[in-house]
Amino acid sequence: MGRIRNAAIGDLLSGAAAGQATEPLGERAVMLRGFAAAEAPAIMEAVQAIVAAAPFRNMITPGGYRMSVAMTSCGRVGWITDRSGYRYSPVDPDTGLAWPPMPGLFRTLAERAAAAGGFPDFVPDSCLINRYEPGARLSLHQDKDEQDLDAPVVSVALGLPAMFLFGGAERGDRPRRIRMESGDVAVWGGPTRLAFHGIDTLADGEHSLTGRCRINLTFRKALS
Ligand code: SIN
Ligand code: FE2
Repeated sequence: MGRIRNAAIGDLLSGAAAGQATEPLGERAVMLRGFAAAEAPAIMEAVQAIVAAAPFRNMITPGGYRMSVAMTSCGRVGWITDRSGYRYSPVDPDTGLAWPPMPGLFRTLAERAAAAGGFPDFVPDSCLINRYEPGARLSLHQDKDEQDLDAPVVSVALGLPAMFLFGGAERGDRPRRIRMESGDVAVWGGPTRLAFHGIDTLADGEHSLTGRCRINLTFRKALS
């Protein structure tokens, strides 16, 4: 009942009106419960179209590990990693082609969520799409490959629930564990823009929207 109500509120009203369903995560960091719930099926359809052109792949870290999270991107640039480092690239290294354009639906959702989280001027140019299958995890890290650290990060969860880990400025700061469900959107920036964060090992399950996985979209302004 709570989640349906949150989705309805998010649907009828925009921006700060999602206030009732907003949970603080830290300074200028919030979880917007159910903010993307109404659009979730349309987002999944768009993800499928993107994946048809730029398939999910498990990339290799600079240290030589294969990531358990499969990734792809849309937008002007996409985040990649390989033996030579982490960076943004205008080209998908697997296809040699530009990343698929960011759908208007994605950009609008990310901008509305950022505004609801107190960042009214956000214009994302990159969307990283993560796929977590049961057992996959994303260890604590900072998003710091972007040229513009004044812009927030907007993270949209779809499908299976996960534990979002939201820590502090130091890797050793004990992270908060926040359950993130399909349709929830996290926004962080300003003093918490470089907070360490991650996703705990995904538990097995089945979700009507995504099947046996969690999909996450992170929107960032990568270029200055
Ligand atoms: C990320 O930190 O890039 C994604 C986090 C998530 O999947 O929720
Ligand atoms: Fe991240």
